[in-house]
Amino acid sequence: MKKIYITTPIFYVNDLPHIGHAYTSIICDTIARFYRLKKYDVQFTTGTDEHGLKVEKAAKSKNKNPKEFVDEVSENFNKLTHTLKLSNTDFIRTTESRHIKAATTFWDLLEEKGQIYKDKYSGWYSIKDESFYQEKELQKIGENKFQTSDGDIVDWVEEESYFFKLSNWQDKLLKFYEENPDFVTPFSRYNEVKSFVKTGLKDLSISRTSFSWGIKVRGSNHIMYVWIDALVNYLTSLGYPKINQNLLFWQNSHHVIGKDILKFHAVYWPALLMAIDFKTPKKIIAHGWWTNNGKKISKSLGNVIDPNEMIEKFGLDQFKYFLLREVPLGNDGDFSESSFLNRINSDLSNNLGNLIQRVMKFLSKNFEQKLPHTPKSSDYGFELIEKGYLILEELEKKFEKFNLSKCLEDIFFYIDDMNRFMDKSEPWKTFRENPEKAAKSLSILVESFRIIGIYLQPFIPDFSDKLLTLLNVDLKNRDFDCLKYENVLKREHVFNEPIALFPRYEK
Ligand code: MSP
Repeated sequence: MKKIYITTPIFYVNDLPHIGHAYTSIICDTIARFYRLKKYDVQFTTGTDEHGLKVEKAAKSKNKNPKEFVDEVSENFNKLTHTLKLSNTDFIRTTESRHIKAATTFWDLLEEKGQIYKDKYSGWYSIKDESFYQEKELQKIGENKFQTSDGDIVDWVEEESYFFKLSNWQDKLLKFYEENPDFVTPFSRYNEVKSFVKTGLKDLSISRTSFSWGIKVRGSNHIMYVWIDALVNYLTSLGYPKINQNLLFWQNSHHVIGKDILKFHAVYWPALLMAIDFKTPKKIIAHGWWTNNGKKISKSLGNVIDPNEMIEKFGLDQFKYFLLREVPLGNDGDFSESSFLNRINSDLSNNLGNLIQRVMKFLSKNFEQKLPHTPKSSDYGFELIEKGYLILEELEKKFEKFNLSKCLEDIFFYIDDMNRFMDKSEPWKTFRENPEKAAKSLSILVESFRIIGIYLQPFIPDFSDKLLTLLNVDLKNRDFDCLKYENVLKREHVFNEPIALFPRYEK
């Protein structure tokens, strides 16, 4: 069985989950479900990043000890996995002993391979990003005062530190990028990574001594830099450092991340892995950022979008559909209630929900909830079914490039074809004079419902499940292999009671 490993970034537990966390998680879940339908063995992990200065400060501001604080906040992220009905196979917390063991082994190996040395660090640090910056990457805003491109003021840090010999890996990284032209998606972001590496890499400070909330470096008063600790989570989840079967998933590992943390995943992470002679990840998929009505989302502006609220108000499938459909994966997107409502009303309620409801109610009323005819290639409109089977190949190609919104676009073009066929064949009219003709058109439409029910499973699984259950399609007949004529629903096939699929929301 082919294997694939999909990961979300692990989330900082300094605050509540927001749309960014939900977006990354939804993309991963869609990929995981898609590959399951292709009969892959899928490991999908998510979790929380619980160490570092940022989290320590957040705990202090709430007058809590860090452990008590992270236990509480991590639970909010765990809850989100349930609210989003994620199909993750693991939820990892960096405070767990399995992870501390993995990160410590990783560090020991770096040391063993001569990749670490002790020196003094002096430079700029952003607590918000948990990242060191060179002055050339910052904007000067006053005498000895600098900020990141996001407007966060950086602190001057001067302390003893362990360093990773990142500069040694510059040429090897560039060679690796050349040999792996698909390592980072989308391509434009890959170019940014390459330029960053070409301008020169400095050794990376990988430990701190001025605070204590982190994994201790054995035999010293240092704690590991939170990013080293965090990146190793991807291995911990596969059982590292134990040599075990799950490590085979690493061969086909996919990290889905936001564009802001690309440097850590596409530069530091492969260099660290090469430094311990471990295989690099297969792919980094960088998505864009969401704004709210054109404005950057931030707590101080009070415009944070709470996924729990959205889902409660409009439904999970609606929320997922909008995020996946609205923008191509690498682009930034803007969230506004009016574009959200337009999208879900027109695509989900009108084009999709309405069509299915009309046909199924009609069959229920006039054909005793049974399929009146087995579609045949000689039937008027049979091309609709043929086309439905055929789009699989195109969808797979787009999906493999992680063009999730294009896949949905194709599926909804097909739903437009279904609506056109419904309007043209007018079964509710022909039924009166020629019930056989109406029966044929309706049966063709029902087969097209089975087809889109299968296709939509990775994207809006609740809807698909409802539809396929309504059509009375067994659980074992729902994967991509079933998209062929052999599995066509036959005459006398009994349906379940029609139910409402997508309500319309008023603006
Ligand atoms: N802890 C690190 C990741 C370590 S992975 C080894 C981290 N955590 S985070 O909680 O700050 O961010 C998690 C993800 O949310 C990032 O991929 C980030 O890009 C994403 N988003 C945060 N705000 C976002 C939007 N407004 N829009 C889309 N995604 C954004 O970084």
